[in-house]
Amino acid sequence: MPDTADYSRKVPRHVAIIMDGNGRWARKRGLPRFAGHKAGMDSVRAVVKVCLSEGIECLTLFAFSSENWRRPAEEVGLLMNLFMVALDHEVKKLHKHGVRLRIVGDVSAFAPELQQRIVAAEQLTAGNTALTLIIAANYGGRWDITQAARSIAAEVARGELDAADITPELMQSQLSLAGLPEPDLFIRTGGEQRISNFLLWQLAYTELYFTPLLWPEFDDKAFAVALESFAGRQRRFGRTDEQVEQMRDA
Ligand code: IPE
Ligand code: IPE
Ligand code: MG
Repeated sequence: MPDTADYSRKVPRHVAIIMDGNGRWARKRGLPRFAGHKAGMDSVRAVVKVCLSEGIECLTLFAFSSENWRRPAEEVGLLMNLFMVALDHEVKKLHKHGVRLRIVGDVSAFAPELQQRIVAAEQLTAGNTALTLIIAANYGGRWDITQAARSIAAEVARGELDAADITPELMQSQLSLAGLPEPDLFIRTGGEQRISNFLLWQLAYTELYFTPLLWPEFDDKAFAVALESFAGRQRRFGRTDEQVEQMRDA
């Protein structure tokens, strides 16, 4: 495998976040769970702002997992509605700031009105370069790898590809985040230390950061602390620390 890893970067190019803890935030205040999801929008705005000011190229936010359909129908409905409202209210602002919006996940399960808004938002912002904001919605890491395998299998079946030519790079090129740098920093709020079927393939060498802060509590200061933690880490990608230090000094 060619070594294209970035050993010395202090500011991540790509941050991926599991925005967890909205329900508990609301419960602590005696509010319905949905109030927590709504409050979490402020944290999204704060994190996007920091990414823009720090020159972070990509931000991927886990908004709705393929397993979140298991929640009570009322909560699922309210989340879908919040997604629509957010697209209606935030896209113009994001566009003004040069943000490119991309939605990854199986969007075919969403209502047609929501799918239309997704397409419109992606088209409007397609030429922007300040930040790529990726929203993972009805996303699952296993789904992502499976859909990539399916499309490669179809090529093989058509005789366009030899099974022996399937490489990690080819797999990568069929995944939802193809063409984007791999996440350098993963953050999960809410205290849980698990991946919950988020980016399984892409997190192979990502630095992991867990915080007990609930998502609506996660602000620009909390994000700065996470970025500081990242800056203090030595990434080795399989090499020894001596090798990495030599590369830095060279
Ligand atoms: C994360 O917050 C948001 C979504 C999964 C949509 P939760 O709703 O999972 O909040 P907790 O974990 O129950 O506190
Ligand atoms: C992960 O959070 C999904 C999102 C934040 C969208 P969950 O709250 O669904 O994860 P589990 O169920 O605690 O693993
Ligand atoms: Mg949760």
